[in-house]
Amino acid sequence: MSPTLKPTRPPHSKSRTHPTPVPDLHEIVIQTRAVAINPVDFAIQTVGTGLFPGLTFPRTLGMDLAGTIVEVGNAVTRFKAGDRVLAHPDVLKKTAAGAFQLFIVAQDNMASHFPNNTSFEEACVPPACLSVAACGLFQKDYLGLECPTVPPTPNGKILLVCGGSTSVGCNAIQLGVAAGYEVVTTCSPHNFEYVKKPGAGYAFDYSSPTAVEDILVVLKGKLCAGAVAIGNISPPGNGTAAAEACLDIVAKSQGAKFVALAMVYQGKMPEGVDGKFIIGSTLKDNELGAKIFEEFLPKALEAGSYLYAPEPLVVGQGLERIQEAFEVVKKGVSARKVVVSL
Ligand SMILES: NC(=O)c1ccc[n+]([C@@H]2O[C@H](COP(=O)([O-])OP(=O)(O)OC[C@H]3O[C@@H](n4cnc5c(N)ncnc54)[C@H](OP(=O)(O)O)[C@@H]3O)[C@@H](O)[C@H]2O)c1
Repeated sequence: MSPTLKPTRPPHSKSRTHPTPVPDLHEIVIQTRAVAINPVDFAIQTVGTGLFPGLTFPRTLGMDLAGTIVEVGNAVTRFKAGDRVLAHPDVLKKTAAGAFQLFIVAQDNMASHFPNNTSFEEACVPPACLSVAACGLFQKDYLGLECPTVPPTPNGKILLVCGGSTSVGCNAIQLGVAAGYEVVTTCSPHNFEYVKKPGAGYAFDYSSPTAVEDILVVLKGKLCAGAVAIGNISPPGNGTAAAEACLDIVAKSQGAKFVALAMVYQGKMPEGVDGKFIIGSTLKDNELGAKIFEEFLPKALEAGSYLYAPEPLVVGQGLERIQEAFEVVKKGVSARKVVVSL
């Protein structure tokens, strides 16, 4: 959310009844079993059309879910009724796609099977933040990196992920590693070990006054493929600081001079460095959606090389717990994904 956008609506949620959605040709209808919360959910709730002009209210929110398919569209070949899937539905397009309801529609290129030994609560963790990270890393008008593979092919280059313990960050680290990069990241010291699980090679404290210099020592003599900047809008974080550090490091290192920005950054760009705000759902309309959700993720989950990270923090069961779950995220989480079981 841009710092200039002030809440215009009091947080308010209410349950409503809809007919079960009917899938279009390339859609699947999923009975939701677990959903995860993203900061943008309550941002839409409170800022309304100031954030996404054209949205209409009342609206069903929610971008992360796992559940069981109940119906598939006529052109869907990859899924059938009864399959367990995770999905990133296009909540901004239609309210039938909002994850916070019992039956939702999702595009088939934005859903993946997951292994039988995985719970719905784990499976709902990655989808939306995986999409955000993938858009920033792989789209040609962002970092344009090679796509991830199972197993990865190391290329000797470094990828900088500022904010590795965020939900977007945990996915950016894993995608970067799967695409062959060595990942350098930032987080609080208590998460240094945690960010190594998804594959970060180096972790630095973003609040250290020497963080930028310390990271530049690691980057010396190596080629940097660019960076993804992620910082939370909720306490304890400050997204602008993450963006500034990232831009500074990229400006002073060798390699690609581009930072994919998960947050709106209104500060000055260093000379010679480009940055662009990630719109985390654009992959649904290009070939990247299928590359990630169809070709890469199911294989990586099955191989155990992709983690459901950060770890789910299940705060309750039932749609009536969603508003309460928003409050947990608003207060600030550290390397946890807030989840509600349905
Ligand atoms: N552009 C898009 O499409 C899109 C989509 C989703 C999210 N976002 C944005 O991405 C950001 C992260 O979202 P999220 O859901 O991934 O967040 P999250 O998981 O709720 O983030 C919490 C984490 O933020 C970290 N953090 C706070 N300040 C930081 C800083 N200055 N540098 C590095 N890390 C910092 C904290 O790390 P420690 O606990 O280790 O201190 C904490 O683990 C938000 O600004 C969100 O609005 C953008």
